Amino acid sequence: MSAPKQILVTHALPYANGPLHIGHLLGYIQTDVWVRAARMTGHTVHFIAADDAHGTPIMLAAEKAGTTPETFIEGIQAGHERDFRDFGIVHDCYYTTHSPENRELAELVYTRLREGGHIARRSIRQLYDPARRMFLPDRYVKGTCPKCGTPDQYGDNCEHCGATYSPTDLVDPRSVLSGATPELRDSEHYFFRLGDFTGLLKDWIGGGSTEGRPVMHPAVSAKLGEWLDADEGLRDWDISRDAPYFGFPIPDAPGKFFYVWLDAPIGYLASFKHYCASPAGAAAGLSAESFWRFMDAPASANPQSPIPNPGSTEMHHFLGKDIVNFHGLFWPAMLQGAGLRLPTALHVNGYLTVNGEKMSKSRGTFVMARTYLDAGLDADWLRYYFSTMLTAAPVDLDLDLKAFEERVNSHLVGKWVNLASRSAGFVHKFFDGRLAAELPESERAAYTSAAERLSACAALYDACDYAGAMRRIMEVADAANAYVAAKAPWLLAKDEGRRGELHVACTLALNYFRLLSIWLEPVVPGIAARAKAFLQDDWQRFAAAAEPALGTAIAPFSALTTRIDPKTLDAMIEASKDSLKPTPAAEATPSLFVAPSASTGSEASPPNAMGERQPASPNPQSPTTNPGLISIDDFAKLDLRIGTVTACEFVEGSDKLLRFELDAGELGTRQIFSGIRAAYAEPGKLVGRRVVFIANLAPRKMRFGVSEGMILSAGSGGADLFLLDVDEGAQAGMPVK
Ligand code: MSP
Ligand code: ZN
Repeated sequence: MSAPKQILVTHALPYANGPLHIGHLLGYIQTDVWVRAARMTGHTVHFIAADDAHGTPIMLAAEKAGTTPETFIEGIQAGHERDFRDFGIVHDCYYTTHSPENRELAELVYTRLREGGHIARRSIRQLYDPARRMFLPDRYVKGTCPKCGTPDQYGDNCEHCGATYSPTDLVDPRSVLSGATPELRDSEHYFFRLGDFTGLLKDWIGGGSTEGRPVMHPAVSAKLGEWLDADEGLRDWDISRDAPYFGFPIPDAPGKFFYVWLDAPIGYLASFKHYCASPAGAAAGLSAESFWRFMDAPASANPQSPIPNPGSTEMHHFLGKDIVNFHGLFWPAMLQGAGLRLPTALHVNGYLTVNGEKMSKSRGTFVMARTYLDAGLDADWLRYYFSTMLTAAPVDLDLDLKAFEERVNSHLVGKWVNLASRSAGFVHKFFDGRLAAELPESERAAYTSAAERLSACAALYDACDYAGAMRRIMEVADAANAYVAAKAPWLLAKDEGRRGELHVACTLALNYFRLLSIWLEPVVPGIAARAKAFLQDDWQRFAAAAEPALGTAIAPFSALTTRIDPKTLDAMIEASKDSLKPTPAAEATPSLFVAPSASTGSEASPPNAMGERQPASPNPQSPTTNPGLISIDDFAKLDLRIGTVTACEFVEGSDKLLRFELDAGELGTRQIFSGIRAAYAEPGKLVGRRVVFIANLAPRKMRFGVSEGMILSAGSGGADLFLLDVDEGAQAGMPVK
């Protein structure tokens, strides 16, 4: 093994605007496996992440949910943390970018960049929504494509012809938020002069790190190289946004905020700093400075010569291919300009498809992490399946559900766990639950050669070639099963004169099982923990595999994992089709404005004029963006009813909500909070009116009380909302069909 290292590992920070889905899990599992493998190799690893809490989509989602962004992101983060835990993704510190540490560090980095002369200011013209009184990010403007004339296209690119443009080029633009026609307005923006770092970046992306490994996969450096070598050079990156914005204010710039992508990667640093100050970090004697060197750095570091990395520390970032520009260009330039060390390596994953296609809500393949677990599927199964495909290459991977089922059943159960289940009974029946104290020469040699063969897996894990590691492990599993088949312990057991042979055969089989368990542990930590309990062993390192376990007692065997029942997969897909099922995001946004959007599976796109990638699609309600049709059965799940308003009032402490009490006939009375205050200035006047509401929406606890349903209204939000009218004669409690 190479000398033990201190390694800081991060993965891309999920936006705090919706629950994790299985696409997210691809990169997050990849990271967690790497961390566990590095620890089992003997390195000290600090695994740090956070929720990415800032930006326009989160601000708007919170507004829609009738709550503050702070409250909104807390709820989302709690859901993310549960999902991580239940998928065995265990961080040393999981924090938020909306933290005091991050604010301080974002200001520090920004100030250093400014002092180094890398910040420019200039006015830009942007589309402004006069109804919502805010500037519109590209994805919040739709209109007709200027190139091909297709209507209803986003402000940054055309889904029909693929053209990229700026939202001001759209024909007939309108605001996705209010429907209003946007106006062009000027505003002063702050820019990071990326071009100052071109030379440094070219050296960095092409080179090996000081730690002697490539900084990134050649396909990633080739992509970054295209941007670096572009004729127009690297454009300035717009790092400011105008109020209203949920983010950190830029010091000395009233009404201006840091763009979410400025403080998001700094969040890696802030979370680590938070961890260092925690009891666990302090106990480990950690200092953020020892990794990042941000206190003693010169204010204006020479943009062309990298800051030396402190000591033997390494910093690894895992991320998806859609955000390589941020991590491979903007982030290292920011670090350098602020006098901080550069990352040791970027590990980039491709996108996940399901059954060969982009994840889709209508096909039921847009599967939330929680939906997978709720269907009764084991997290380790997905971790294993992903690992059989993952390599260092940033290529898309497919979750083929049939292959998933077959591979888990055949590899994990058939080849691995069965080694234990077939031998354990004999050991208990004839040998008092103990393994043989020694092995004959040939068995010993067979074990040693298998152990040596698998010792190569440490390097494969380190190189992110999990597919290679899994192949090797399964080859050894095949050899182990061939040994068991040849020895046929079930036949030996019938012959009292051959007990010695039987003991040896079972001991070697169980040692093969142990060997495979040790090397599989980073991938399937849950099953491996049960294997440890069964073997009454507590290995911590891969090194434990070098010697077989002899003479030790084992516990009675109980199933370590089961075969996948294909019905659970069907159930998962069915549940994912069910768009009415409350997801954490839907719970937090009790409106028709629901659910996180599918991330696109497209190639990483070059930074556009402002280096902008919209954090998340704004969930526009236009049917063209969500062609999924529902069946009559889906509609029947909604219990729509007539309610008569018996009370309606403002809600203390909320400028969005009205509190309704409804007479719901046979359903009794209902309290419902509805975010329509801006549209109804005199709530008292609504008393006596009949409204349409959803009666079977899961009740939601809000700061102000429990909301027991949702009142329907038309319109785009804010003041543009209209309650539905009901004709004379309809009675409270009547179903609406
Ligand atoms: N918040 C930013 C990252 C900031 S890092 C300083 C972000 N968030 S995200 O929620 O959109 O994505 C988080 C990670 O999940 C990214 O690495 C992204 O590439 C990855 N994926 C999101 N959808 C994915 C798939 N369908 N497949 C594989 N990875 C996917 O970007
Ligand atoms: Zn077009």
